[in-house]
Amino acid sequence: MAAVQTRMEAALQRFLPAPEILPERLHRAMRYAVLGGGKRVRPLLAFAASELSAADPARVEVVAAAVEMIHAYSLVHDDMPCMDDDVLRRGRPTCHVEFDEATALLVGDALQPLAFQLMADHVLADKPDEQIEMLKILAVASGSRGMAGGQAIDLASVGKTLSLPELEFMHIHKTGALIRAATVLGARCGRGLEANGYERLERYAKTVGLAFQVVDDVLDCEASTATLGKTAGKDAAQSKPTYVSILGLARARELAEELRVEAHAALSSFDARAARLHELADFIVLRKF
Ligand code: IPE
Ligand code: IPE
Ligand code: MG
Ligand code: MG
Ligand code: MG
Repeated sequence: MAAVQTRMEAALQRFLPAPEILPERLHRAMRYAVLGGGKRVRPLLAFAASELSAADPARVEVVAAAVEMIHAYSLVHDDMPCMDDDVLRRGRPTCHVEFDEATALLVGDALQPLAFQLMADHVLADKPDEQIEMLKILAVASGSRGMAGGQAIDLASVGKTLSLPELEFMHIHKTGALIRAATVLGARCGRGLEANGYERLERYAKTVGLAFQVVDDVLDCEASTATLGKTAGKDAAQSKPTYVSILGLARARELAEELRVEAHAALSSFDARAARLHELADFIVLRKF
């Protein structure tokens, strides 16, 4: 994990505009939002999945950086007063607090196209149509049928009691979509997978994507602000429907555990190349931050 995290920090440093390039304040804010924090779970998944297809790490680094830029922007906007109104992220003031709201909005506006520019600037697949397919995977995962759509449902659900399928739909989109994209794109940087390989990988990714948000909900209620680096207890305070509010803490934890088992099962027919993916399923569910 540390090796990927270090590698990603360096890659993101390089891919982001230098702080002294005009407009300096926007570039400083973009770097603030992306660098020096975060677990880098999506890059970790991309690298882990790339082991299934023996992909060139130089390619994987690009797709991982692209997904991480979209993710970082989603956090900047998620924290803004018009959304979750949070002042703490990754143990530091949120972007709109450190800079200002307009800058935070523009950070998202700028990080999102930068992600796609990156994926267009580098050779990521052996055939151009395969690379266009990869760009499309990230586009769909980011948009109204993916992360942004999930966020819309999240905001529209405040104060409501969602059914379990509705809650699952929301989580699979707001959080699952980018996790799934990171995983699939990592594998796609290499040679094609065996029969049903992508299907099985997608099943794994969908499962850990959901598990990730179930655990995020549990930690929001269970962990401290200090360990999370973001304000704990926000979901209840803001009447957000979560797995904890719908199922209770004990059942939400059990569900995360069931998803962990399911994720391992989805990988069962891959050989030792899936070792890192197995480890990440454990990390995602058993993490304490
Ligand atoms: C937090 O994501 C927001 C969700 C999608 C649940 P992470 O927990 O991956 O945040 P960082 O990147 O590690 O800060
Ligand atoms: C955010 O979910 C999901 C995103 C797409 C950013 P949350 O609102 O639960 O994330 P945190 O808890 O603020 O990190
Ligand atoms: Mg939110
Ligand atoms: Mg939030
Ligand atoms: Mg949360």
